[in-house]
Amino acid sequence: MAPTQRIRKAILPVAGLGTRFLPATKAMPKEMLTIVDRPIIQHVVDEARAAGIEHFIFVTGRNKTVIEDHFDKQVELETTLSERGKLEELNMLNDLLPKAGQTSYTRQQSPKGLGHAVWCARDLVGNEPFALLLPDVLVQAPDKGCMAQMMDIYNKTGGNILAVEEVEPDQTSNYGVVDVLKNECGTMKINGMVEKPAPRTAPSNLIIMGRYILQPEIFDILATQTEGAGNEIQITDAMKTLMNDQEFYACPYEGRSFDCGSKIGFLAANVAFALSRDDIGPAFRDALRKLI
Ligand code: UTP
Repeated sequence: MAPTQRIRKAILPVAGLGTRFLPATKAMPKEMLTIVDRPIIQHVVDEARAAGIEHFIFVTGRNKTVIEDHFDKQVELETTLSERGKLEELNMLNDLLPKAGQTSYTRQQSPKGLGHAVWCARDLVGNEPFALLLPDVLVQAPDKGCMAQMMDIYNKTGGNILAVEEVEPDQTSNYGVVDVLKNECGTMKINGMVEKPAPRTAPSNLIIMGRYILQPEIFDILATQTEGAGNEIQITDAMKTLMNDQEFYACPYEGRSFDCGSKIGFLAANVAFALSRDDIGPAFRDALRKLI
């Protein structure tokens, strides 16, 4: 069924501790680590903006104020760039900046899990469906970004949409895994989901990879939810409850994802994004060849 409300707001949970990147993340948020020349979080905001998102809600924690600074004007820097005639850089900074009033920040206070981080944004989202993008995950898509592909499905089906991707069967125990049913019109309805299933018990090898469109009823469920796996409030548990009343659809998006929360994923993303750039790609390819 076509939706009655469009998706205007996105939640970006950035309150995690980033322990896998210590010592880099001792004083700097992991979301500010760079993929080539822009912070991870900028790539994710760009993806959301390209999908039509108008308001960005950051759920932050200690040491994260630099993210707020990044999405603000830097008058001194802009004056200097202008005085030096560096108009290309100046225009680029302006293009990347969300407009005044398009960002909001709330604090999670203690990292009790992704479900809890999402619940912290309840008043800022209000009673409307929203996008949720995990900044740990970057997607390199050939044409349309991952969230834009999800919007295409949402505009036909409404309800809740989860981006999914296939992994090797021995990897499923690290993720939330969905059970799907493909129907005649090509949409993939989700019948069930399980967080980090024990080896060989996963319902499929389709994992939930970090992009969601969710209905606001999820907040009421999260409000009363107890800790699940890892003693954290899990978004997957809340989605399972919501599935009793609402439809969920899978979006097997086109593109390649990188888990930038892990060192290998982060390094691979840097290589892939650098190779795909017209300005530095060819020279970087030569440099890589000399190294390996
Ligand atoms: P992770 O568990 O991968 O992030 O959460 P982390 O805790 O920062 O990383 P490590 O394991 O210590 O290295 C996935 C996403 O959810 C956010 C994180 O910021 C990250 O973007 N998150 C996680 C929160 O905002 N709050 C939480 O309580 C947990």
